[in-house]
Amino acid sequence: MKIKMAFELLFWVVLIASFCLQYGDGRMTLSITDFLSDSDNTNADHSQAFQDAWKALCKAKGGKEAPSLIIHANETYTVRPQLFQGPCVSRNLHIRIDGTIEAPKTVREWGSQRSEYWLCFERVTGLVLDGSGLLNPHGAAWWSSVAANSRPEAMRFSGCKDIIYNGLTQLDSPKIHIAISGCINATLSNLHLIAPANSPNTDGIDISFSHNIRILSSSIKTGDDCVAIRGGSYDINVTRVTCGPGHGISIGSLGREGATDTVQNVNVRHCTFTGTQNGARIKTWDGGRGFAKNILYEDITLINAQFPIIIDQHYCNGGHCTTATAVKVSDVTFRYFKGTCADAIAIKLDCDQKVGCDNIVMEHINITSSAPKTPLSAYCQFANVIRRFVNIPIRCGSHKLLQPLAPYSDQPPSPYPQPQPPAPHAQSSMFSSFLYFM
Ligand SMILES: *[C@@H]1O[C@H](CO)[C@@H](O)[C@H](O)[C@H]1NC(C)=O
Ligand SMILES: *[C@@H]1O[C@H](CO)[C@@H](O)[C@H](O)[C@H]1NC(C)=O
Ligand SMILES: *[C@@H]1O[C@H](CO)[C@@H](O)[C@H](O)[C@H]1NC(C)=O
Ligand SMILES: *[C@@H]1O[C@H](CO)[C@@H](O)[C@H](O)[C@H]1NC(C)=O
Repeated sequence: MKIKMAFELLFWVVLIASFCLQYGDGRMTLSITDFLSDSDNTNADHSQAFQDAWKALCKAKGGKEAPSLIIHANETYTVRPQLFQGPCVSRNLHIRIDGTIEAPKTVREWGSQRSEYWLCFERVTGLVLDGSGLLNPHGAAWWSSVAANSRPEAMRFSGCKDIIYNGLTQLDSPKIHIAISGCINATLSNLHLIAPANSPNTDGIDISFSHNIRILSSSIKTGDDCVAIRGGSYDINVTRVTCGPGHGISIGSLGREGATDTVQNVNVRHCTFTGTQNGARIKTWDGGRGFAKNILYEDITLINAQFPIIIDQHYCNGGHCTTATAVKVSDVTFRYFKGTCADAIAIKLDCDQKVGCDNIVMEHINITSSAPKTPLSAYCQFANVIRRFVNIPIRCGSHKLLQPLAPYSDQPPSPYPQPQPPAPHAQSSMFSSFLYFM
């Protein structure tokens, strides 16, 4: 009797334990090594193992912890273009890359069906992609030998939701390092994107048709835009990003080939531009429609940046400017800019005569020339500018001043206010006034 009970107990213990192991803490950790075939030792293409690992990860049922795939620091793999397609079964997935993933070193080895990307996550929700690893698509092979519009992006998130991408280093993309397209709610942080200053079209991060996107605490040194925010995007924050070399943080270009593009609610804060061609830029095509509005650039440090502040509503890239229509630019604030400028024109507002730029606020701007004793100037056409504490005189040629300009101020700009520690009882004013009356 006792023996039977003991066996029954043992049976239940084993059953519950195995259930817990499988589902209870939901831990499923895959490794690429689980999917390598014998030929992979001699064959330097691990694409199939990556596809098999993704299929297993995407099919896995999530428990308390997300199913995960780990690439250890001692692992290096070579893959051709990879599409990691969702939707997946689990609400959360984790891919940790501490090792190195690279592409074949020659364009030919990428395969006959070259694609628009090297690595692409499509319609994936709840992915955390992190680690201290390196992604190297060896883009230099493409820069000289393939036309710009046929070069692939290194990493693309397309139609994704609730994405975290943190910690990795990406080297030498053939084109854009990271493209975010049609995504909702993504946080990119602690990334390092590196390509030579003269590498063509190697933007850091391009965002289009996406919203609720944060780019945080990253360093972007590439040959083109540091971050570009394109049409169909709103609620975008870029915070504590250091740029340079590169072309600065741009809204646009918008309205290309007569397109209607809209961008709104963008905050670029606590960013540094070192040796960049531009700093804060809004660039819209001649002949386009739509708008760019509610945009803030705040607490910006410039170190030898060529054109720190630019709005160009007549972008036509050397083509024939028609000035038929333009993308409306309004409610743009540039504040707490400091540092040095490499060119003579620190502020350029080249707006359209009919559409114009409205409510452009400039305050606390102290930009000086990198060359000693060189005065800086501003160019301004058809912009309605409100300015306070700007150390460069701005006189706008304009037919559509809606408000008179504030008088030019010689008062020194004040430094960006440092965050103060909260005063005691600061959160509860009712409570503190209550104390006051006691
Ligand atoms: C690689 O690193 C992992 C985890 O750090 C370890 O378990 C594994 O044995 C290592 N593999 C080799 C081949 O050194
Ligand atoms: C955004 O994504 C993060 C990470 O997956 C998630 O924790 C957060 O709840 C999401 N926010 C919204 C508003 O869905
Ligand atoms: C951007 O920052 C502002 C101000 O801190 C905040 O209110 C807003 O929710 C942020 N937006 C996103 C997409 O995180
Ligand atoms: C403006 O910048 C210059 C050069 O960095 C500095 O010497 C000066 O003190 C600054 N002015 C104010 C008011 O901060």
